[in-house]
Amino acid sequence: MRFLQLLGFAAVALSAPLLEGRAKSKSFLKQINETTWVLGNSLWNVTQNRQYANKLFYKGQDRVGKAVGHYVSYNGAASDLNWTSAAIVDSGSDYINVKFTAKEGDFHWVIYDDLAGAYQYFVNHALPVLGEFRTLWRLDNSSFTKGRTYLKDGPLPPLSDYLAATKVQDETWQKADGTYLTKYDWSAVLRSTDYYGVYGDKVGSWYFNPGKDYYNGDQTKGELMVHRESLTGDTVQLNMIHGTHFQAIATDTFADGKTWGPWLWYLNDGSKTDAAARAEEEEAKWPYKWYEALDKAYRTRGRMQGQLALSDGRAAAGANVFLGDSNSTLSTLDQGANYYYTTTADKDGKFVIKDIRQGTYGLYAWSNGGKIGDVSTTFIKNDVVIREGDNTNLKKLSWPVTDLKKRIFQVGDFDRKSVGFLGSGGYFHGRIATCPANITYTIGKSKPSDWCFGQSSFGKYSITFSLASIPTTATGAKLTVSMAGFSTGSAADVLLNDVKVGRITNSATILSSQDTYRGATVSGEWHLLEMPIAKAQLKVGVNKVDFNVTASTLWRGWFWDSVVLDWQ
Ligand SMILES: *[C@@H]1O[C@H](CO)[C@@H](O)[C@H](O)[C@H]1NC(C)=O
Ligand SMILES: *[C@@H]1O[C@H](CO)[C@@H](O)[C@H](O)[C@H]1NC(C)=O
Ligand SMILES: *[C@@H]1O[C@H](CO)[C@@H](O)[C@H](O)[C@H]1NC(C)=O
Ligand SMILES: *[C@@H]1O[C@H](CO)[C@@H](O)[C@H](O)[C@H]1NC(C)=O
Ligand SMILES: *[C@@H]1O[C@H](CO)[C@@H](O)[C@H](O)[C@H]1NC(C)=O
Ligand SMILES: *[C@@H]1O[C@H](CO)[C@@H](O)[C@H](O)[C@H]1NC(C)=O
Ligand SMILES: *[C@@H]1O[C@H](CO)[C@@H](O)[C@H](O)[C@H]1NC(C)=O
Repeated sequence: MRFLQLLGFAAVALSAPLLEGRAKSKSFLKQINETTWVLGNSLWNVTQNRQYANKLFYKGQDRVGKAVGHYVSYNGAASDLNWTSAAIVDSGSDYINVKFTAKEGDFHWVIYDDLAGAYQYFVNHALPVLGEFRTLWRLDNSSFTKGRTYLKDGPLPPLSDYLAATKVQDETWQKADGTYLTKYDWSAVLRSTDYYGVYGDKVGSWYFNPGKDYYNGDQTKGELMVHRESLTGDTVQLNMIHGTHFQAIATDTFADGKTWGPWLWYLNDGSKTDAAARAEEEEAKWPYKWYEALDKAYRTRGRMQGQLALSDGRAAAGANVFLGDSNSTLSTLDQGANYYYTTTADKDGKFVIKDIRQGTYGLYAWSNGGKIGDVSTTFIKNDVVIREGDNTNLKKLSWPVTDLKKRIFQVGDFDRKSVGFLGSGGYFHGRIATCPANITYTIGKSKPSDWCFGQSSFGKYSITFSLASIPTTATGAKLTVSMAGFSTGSAADVLLNDVKVGRITNSATILSSQDTYRGATVSGEWHLLEMPIAKAQLKVGVNKVDFNVTASTLWRGWFWDSVVLDWQ
């Protein structure tokens, strides 16, 4: 009896670790006290306090270390959300859905038992009117030494470089060798992003944001993705779900229930190949089936198709298509309260967007260069209704364009980007200062790469063109100046044959945006200026248009999209 009892006890003692092992492989939420919780599974766990999740155990080590950890915040660090409670609000055989509640809304971690990482989403209840809203990780910098976006991949500059350098502007330093250090060089175009994150030799932390319909702005929008925190040295992995880093003031009011995500925060051994494969898998799974049961508005989606034809009979080949707010007074870049969908038309101008949340939208289209790079106008159709399970077929849509017979010249393609010009590409602090002070572009001889992507130094960019005759039917001409970005501080007079016809300067129509000075070189906030030209100002023979800089501030100015002159 005694022997059996001992045996029985021994048997229990032996099986206990096994049982514990099984219990541990389940995802869990444990409350430690009023303001601290631990959540995760057997692969990882996070300690969440009132504001910060300051511990992340993964692969045998705390991957937050001395860094700040995970938090959700708006309009800067003064507004980090404070979690007042946490609960498991849904679960299945292999996952739990943990909700953290703050007065502004709920942040969810959906934890699968076998997944290193978690799906996350935020449901708004009472966020204030805001421009910036983000979730982020500030991680251990010895575990996560590098950053990866689709534009840039490599070691994050060490904090010691910042300490030894001279601050020259907002989060930007100059090193002794003359080169610059800035977090903004780690930016990328949000809607072109496949995956991004921070990694080292043993671990990687990644964000996959399939669908991207909860982001503000259009396909030109850039955002900061990863960086070295310049005060503490933390490795930062941002999730700018509503951002304005390269824009003028862009604020939105959100309805109760507006939801950002779900996206996947994913941990691995640092392999980019694995991260890339997982990103594709997530994109294919979007919209997420597992989430549909929880959110009717997420589930109720429809489809839209159409074909864009230019009024001159051409197909709108490769056009940018944006499905956004109906009857909006905001630019497509500045829209951000709702949900947004983007695609490009095919060579015949046909486009399809699937999985659109039910609702009433505005359809916008603009040239993406190439075959329709001459098109300066934007196509807009309001009141596009998307219904659950339905295909909204808009059929053939006519897009009014300028008669090309009236075109006198064009420099660069219309695409709201500086693509094709010298220096255009990526985010590089200070590159605008390397643009020549003076350029003369001769129509018929020069090529776009002879024109620089931006202008900010004292000097003059000139376009010279020849007119064989002045059409009798013309009443005048119109100069269209399309700019892909503008940061106040520099200004120029626009002259036609030495007579001033306009100005590039900070004004109600050209709001300053944070693009040019923060090192964007391709797209920031787009502006279209139209300047009427009197017929008598043009002459047979050689004419010229000058952009003569009258005020210059280092790194501030504008970058070009296209310049055209048309007969009216
Ligand atoms: C709750 O627990 C955490 C972690 O043990 C501890 O740092 C914190 O001081 C505790 N808070 C309270 C109010 O007891
Ligand atoms: C979190 O992970 C660490 C390291 O694996 C482990 O020691 C700790 O017990 C885990 N916490 C919980 C609550 O499971
Ligand atoms: C969260 O609490 C901190 C400390 O009490 C406070 O400074 C901060 O403003 C709070 N955040 C918000 C968004 O209210
Ligand atoms: C990592 O952070 C520490 C402070 O926690 C800092 O002293 C160190 O310089 C940082 N390392 C790098 C490579 O920036
Ligand atoms: C939106 O604008 C269209 C014209 O583009 C107009 O017909 C329609 O009534 C407007 N809808 C609303 C809701 O204001
Ligand atoms: C630009 O042209 C002006 C006028 O010809 C000239 O004074 C100036 O030196 C030129 N700037 C540079 C950097 O060549
Ligand atoms: C061009 O701007 C400069 C100031 O940078 C000014 O001195 C010059 O007179 C201007 N030229 C013309 C033709 O307006």
